[in-house]
Amino acid sequence: MARDSTDYPSLSVPTRDPGELEKILLQLAEEIDELQRQKEKLGQELELQKALLWSILNNIPEGIILLDDQGRIVIMNRRAEVMLQYTIQEVLGKPVNTALASKKNPRLVVQKVIKRPWVREAMVMRKDGSEIPLRVKLWSVLDEDGKETTKVVCLEDLTRSHELTQHSMRNERLSSLGELSMGIAHEIRNPLAGIRITAQALEEEVGSNPLAREYVSRIISEIDRLNELLKSFFSFAKPQKPALVPCRLEELVREVIFILEGELRERGVEVEMHFPAEVPQLMLDTGQMKQVLFNLVINAMQAMAHGGTLRIGISSNTEARPPEVILSVADTGKGINPEHRSKIFDPFFTTKAKGLGLGLSISHRIVQAHGGRMSFQSEVGKGTTFHVHLPVKKDEGGPAPREGEENRGEHLASNGL
Ligand SMILES: Nc1ncnc2c1ncn2[C@@H]1O[C@H](COP(=O)(O)OP(=O)(O)OP(=O)(O)O)[C@@H](O)[C@H]1O
Ligand SMILES: [Mg+2]
Repeated sequence: MARDSTDYPSLSVPTRDPGELEKILLQLAEEIDELQRQKEKLGQELELQKALLWSILNNIPEGIILLDDQGRIVIMNRRAEVMLQYTIQEVLGKPVNTALASKKNPRLVVQKVIKRPWVREAMVMRKDGSEIPLRVKLWSVLDEDGKETTKVVCLEDLTRSHELTQHSMRNERLSSLGELSMGIAHEIRNPLAGIRITAQALEEEVGSNPLAREYVSRIISEIDRLNELLKSFFSFAKPQKPALVPCRLEELVREVIFILEGELRERGVEVEMHFPAEVPQLMLDTGQMKQVLFNLVINAMQAMAHGGTLRIGISSNTEARPPEVILSVADTGKGINPEHRSKIFDPFFTTKAKGLGLGLSISHRIVQAHGGRMSFQSEVGKGTTFHVHLPVKKDEGGPAPREGEENRGEHLASNGL
C-alpha cells in the first residue's frame, strides 16, 4: 500500500539561499558529531561505572548472587563462584537452587517476595559434591510500586567458625579423656616396672636354656612395647609446654624424611619437597614439631598401601593476621571417608588394625600449643593433604638465611636415591 506523504514529518527548510542551506547542514553535522562524542563519553563512563561495580562486587568477602523475578541467576560474584565451585557461565539464567542446594533441602532458597532478610545456615553442596557451611541471607529489592525487581542472595562462609567450635568441643573431650588416661596409665606403669624387673631376674635364672631365654626375652620386649604405649599416653594426657627455639622448619622436614627414607622407599613412596627460597624463621619446640611431622608422614605412608607420592611443601601467608607459615603434607593415598572426617583428631579414633588413634590428636595439641592450627582436605581414592598453620610472631624477624641454592621444586626420590 502506497504511503501517504502525511505519514512523514515535514521539515521546512528555507531554500531561498543555497549558502544558508549549506550553513544549516554544516551546523547539523557538527551537532551530530557533538552528540556522537557525548554518546561515546557516556558509553565510556558507563563502562567505567560497570567496571567499578564489578570490582566492588568481586572484592567483598561475601558471595553475592542476584536473581531475576523468576528466581533465575543473573549475576554471581567471584567469591560465590569460589564458594560454590560454579562459574557464572555455568549457572547464568538457571534457577538459583541449581547452584545453591543442600543435601537435606534441595530447594534451599525460597521463591516468595521477602522484604526483610531471610537467614538460614546450611551445609551447601558444591559442584564436586563436597559440602561447605554457609550462612545464606536473602532479600527482595522492590521498586517504587512495591514490585520485586531482583532478589539478593548473600553467602557467608562459616568454615572457620565451624572449625573453631569443633576445636573447642574437641579440647573439652581431650581434657576429660586426658585425665582418665593419666589415671589408668599411672596404675599400669608401676606394676609393669615390677614385672620387667622380675622378668630380667628370671632371664638370669633360666641360664643357658635357649627356648626359655627366648620366651623371657619376648616377655621383656612386649613389656617395653607397653611402656612405649604408656609414654604416648603421657604425652597425650600431659603435654609438655613447648620449649621454643628459633628454627627452620625445612630442616626438621629433611631430618624426618632422612629417618623414614628407607621405609618410604620400601613401600614405593616417592618424596617431593617444595620449599621457597626464604622461609621465615619460626620459634618451635623442635622435638615436638618433629613428632608432628612423623605422625603426618607415617599416616600418609600408611594411606598409600600400594605406593604413591608424598609431597611436603612450605609456604608463607603474609595476609593472615598474624602472618603464618603453612606446612603441607600431601599424599596420593586412599583418602578419608566423609563420615570419618569430623573424628580423625579425636583421641583413640582409628581405622587401622594396629593404630592407637593418638597420632593426630597429639599433633593437634602440639600445634595448638604453638599458637597454630591444623586443617586438611581429602578426596576418597585420590589422597589427603594436611596443613599445619604456624604463626610467625613479630619478634621472630625476617626470613632465615638459607645455605645453598633456591630449592623450589626439589625432587627427592626415595626410590633409587
Ligand atoms: N593421610 C591420611 N590418609 C587417610 N586417612 C588418614 C590419614 N591420616 C589420618 N587418617 C585417618 O585418621 C585416623 C586417625 O589418625 P591418627 O594418626 O590419629 O591415628 P592412627 O594413625 O590410626 O594411629 P596412631 O597414629 O596412633 O598409630 C586414621 O586411623 C585414619 O583413618
Ligand atoms: Mg597415625
